[in-house]
Amino acid sequence: MLILGGTSEAAALDQHLAEQAPDIRAIISLAGHTVDPRPSNLPVRVGGFGGIEGLRQYLRDENIIAVIDATHPFAAIMPFHAEHACKAEGVPLLAIRRAPWHPVEGDRWENVPDMEAAAEALGHEPRRVFLTIGRLDLPVFADAPQHHYLVRAIEPIGDRLPVPHVEVIQQRGPFSLEGEEALMREKGIEILVSKNSGGDATAAKLVAARRLGLPVIMVERPPKPDVETVAHVHQVLPWLVAEGLFVTERGV
Ligand SMILES: NC(=O)c1ccc[n+]([C@@H]2O[C@H](COP(=O)([O-])OP(=O)(O)OC[C@H]3O[C@@H](n4cnc5c(N)ncnc54)[C@H](OP(=O)(O)O)[C@@H]3O)[C@@H](O)[C@H]2O)c1
Repeated sequence: MLILGGTSEAAALDQHLAEQAPDIRAIISLAGHTVDPRPSNLPVRVGGFGGIEGLRQYLRDENIIAVIDATHPFAAIMPFHAEHACKAEGVPLLAIRRAPWHPVEGDRWENVPDMEAAAEALGHEPRRVFLTIGRLDLPVFADAPQHHYLVRAIEPIGDRLPVPHVEVIQQRGPFSLEGEEALMREKGIEILVSKNSGGDATAAKLVAARRLGLPVIMVERPPKPDVETVAHVHQVLPWLVAEGLFVTERGV
């Protein structure tokens, strides 16, 4: 089984399989953006496959009989490659997709379709902005150099945000509500930019923004292929059983 990873879901599936189905031979695939990925029980391969054709070749070479797409909600390309390659090779594909966040009373969100729109939505007046979008999309904000940016990312951002006022915090979640609120107060944050990633690990920033009455620019998710989807890693084993790819100890 091939698990397309790079997410907390892939890490949770790794743990779940180790506990519930250690006989399944699976491999986790990472794009290779993170220099220091989380340790895992399963073997890991790193780097792109070389497009749809490369992935098809990989599925054949490695005798893959099932693919789990556990990529991030903002991975815009890999899910489509998985769909096409699996269809062409006749390999069953299941996607794990976490639910998006939804605003509740007191939230001051502005939903925008993409990162360019997020940079524009910051406006012309200089503001103190908390950017919690990872590091890959940072260059877009170079077009709005008037703002003071506080950037949080797992990896060093290098020269991705060449503007006069940038402070970087290098950290991996989860983050606590108290910590998020204290950070935003201490840094005098006036507005937050977030991807609508969903999940628990990074949701505290949104509660903190609500408590502080801060506006949030929320970037909506990119489109995904229409494939069989579950919301939780615990649904993967039942799917494998239903596909006839896995038999439990009870023979079910
Ligand atoms: N985008 C985010 O906000 C975000 C956040 C957290 C984690 N991640 C993780 O980081 C990885 C890359 O994200 P992205 O937004 O660059 O994805 P993407 O735009 O969907 O994919 C770009 C290319 O990266 C390679 N790739 C992506 N995921 C891969 C995987 N799991 N294993 C092997 N190759 C992979 C593929 O290269 P080839 O065409 O050569 O196969 C793909 O065409 C994903 O695994 C995703 O789960 C992304």
